Amino acid sequence: MYSLSAAFLFFVLVAVDSARILGVFQFPSLSHQIVFRALCRELSLRGHQVTIVTSSPLRDKSLVNLTEIDISSAANVLPSSESIEFTMSKDMPTTEIMISFYDLSEKIQEAVLQNEEFQKLYNDPKAEFDLLISEALHPGMYSLAGRFNVPVIGMSSLGVVTASHESVGNIIHPVLYPDMNLPYVGRLTLKEKLYSIYFTMWSLYYYNFKVIPRADMISRKYLGDQLPYLGDIGRNVSLLLINTNMAIYGPRPHIPTVIPLGFTHIQPVKPLPKDLQSILDSESIGAVYFSLGSNVKSCHLSPHILASITKVLSEIPYTVFWKWEGDKLPKSTDNIIYRKWFPQRDLLAHPNIKLFITQGGLQSIEEAILSEVPMVGMPFIGDQAMNVKRIAMLGIGVEEDPSKITATSFRNSIFEVIRNSTYKKRIKEWRHILEDQPMSSMEKAIFWTEYVIRHKGAPHLRAPTLYVPWWEYFLFDAIGFALLMCFVIVYVIFKCLLRLPRIFKHDKLKTT
Ligand SMILES: *[C@@H]1O[C@H](CO)[C@@H](O)[C@H](O)[C@H]1NC(C)=O
Ligand SMILES: *[C@@H]1O[C@H](CO)[C@@H](O)[C@H](O)[C@H]1NC(C)=O
Ligand SMILES: *[C@@H]1O[C@H](CO)[C@@H](O)[C@H](O)[C@H]1NC(C)=O
Repeated sequence: MYSLSAAFLFFVLVAVDSARILGVFQFPSLSHQIVFRALCRELSLRGHQVTIVTSSPLRDKSLVNLTEIDISSAANVLPSSESIEFTMSKDMPTTEIMISFYDLSEKIQEAVLQNEEFQKLYNDPKAEFDLLISEALHPGMYSLAGRFNVPVIGMSSLGVVTASHESVGNIIHPVLYPDMNLPYVGRLTLKEKLYSIYFTMWSLYYYNFKVIPRADMISRKYLGDQLPYLGDIGRNVSLLLINTNMAIYGPRPHIPTVIPLGFTHIQPVKPLPKDLQSILDSESIGAVYFSLGSNVKSCHLSPHILASITKVLSEIPYTVFWKWEGDKLPKSTDNIIYRKWFPQRDLLAHPNIKLFITQGGLQSIEEAILSEVPMVGMPFIGDQAMNVKRIAMLGIGVEEDPSKITATSFRNSIFEVIRNSTYKKRIKEWRHILEDQPMSSMEKAIFWTEYVIRHKGAPHLRAPTLYVPWWEYFLFDAIGFALLMCFVIVYVIFKCLLRLPRIFKHDKLKTT
């Protein structure tokens, strides 16, 4: 049965001729780019001519169908990792985080559109494409769909904000599916419900009336005034490919144009470098891996947080692999191995890694789940707070809030996760659940991408929500009409009742 469906899939897949695909992935962050480039690499291997605008080019000469435009200079507009902890800290009000995120996105949009090599491409009257794939966290680059007159797929390396779900007509609900930037999981308390409702209304307003008009102006400045309005292109997105696995995002309804993927960036495990391999092999009681990912750097942590962490890690009886980006090491003890970079996927896969201390980025969590390594989550920015709350709720790790961390709490968290076997057991169960899929995420992503090309934007999939105004969506017209009818009926009955005594009197008069 399986081979039959695989053969069928294969037939469908080869039925698309080589298409010209433009991918514009504007956020200069490795954790975003690894997801997009996995898909684009695969599309190129299947014979499509793929051009991508990326800050992390693969520069792989064997990928003859993949052209890369390097926009890593756009990273200059990013706040330094030192200040990212403060400008986008999870402890700020979520509305302020979103405002600074969108401000930053506009700076990135300009920086990318100013890239000379990219300008050559979008100013070339002979350049033609069949499809645009663009990073969906900010709508700015959707404008290229107007420039090249092609259908557009929005893709995200994590989930998307409520406003993006709304713009393609997906079902939104502030209490059942709170925005991914809110750290709410499970059933919401009344206070959380009220904030989520407020935040949803605010974010829909802010996205549609501030973010889109500003991004539209920037697009026109570079791509010309003949473009359709960016908001209209945004509501014309053929598909949203979102990287949400069910463990971290929970079950939610998706209309046919929203495709959840998950685990898209995962590559097969490679052998470890010899030195790391031999240290890990000789480990008798297990080792701990500590990394805060690519956006938050542990060398920029505030001194009091760093002091607690260093104290504990140097005292525990485990070998610690610490991703430390600075040149000056915090404290040298025999059990800590500092490196600026570790092959994370391969390291986590070693059976002697007992614990992963992580900032709670989605890609890191996915790698931990696949390797069955339970976690201590230490969230700083963006979706990390929500992700870590989910880890704790699922019982595959615990939360260690960096703003409240002490040596004692940190030590307890580490020992709890390593010594209490329930975390390991749960993460094994979740791995089995998440791997039980009808097709891999990559196959799914390729299928739907080619589907959009085959059906010229697949307008037949568009959600009916997009054609009705909000008052029709909430049934206000029907309810209004029904209320009016009720009112008329009640009014008529009331009027009749008022007349009754008179008729009665009249009758009485007659009979006497
Ligand atoms: C490049 O694309 C062609 C078809 O356009 C395909 O036949 C070939 O296998 C592709 N090569 C690689 C290495 O991706
Ligand atoms: C282990 O962790 C689970 C889940 O957090 C908890 O219910 C249980 O009491 C813990 N067991 C011990 C021995 O601490
Ligand atoms: C919407 O998309 C279709 C093709 O997918 C395209 O023909 C049309 O021009 C687009 N409209 C806008 C406003 O972008």
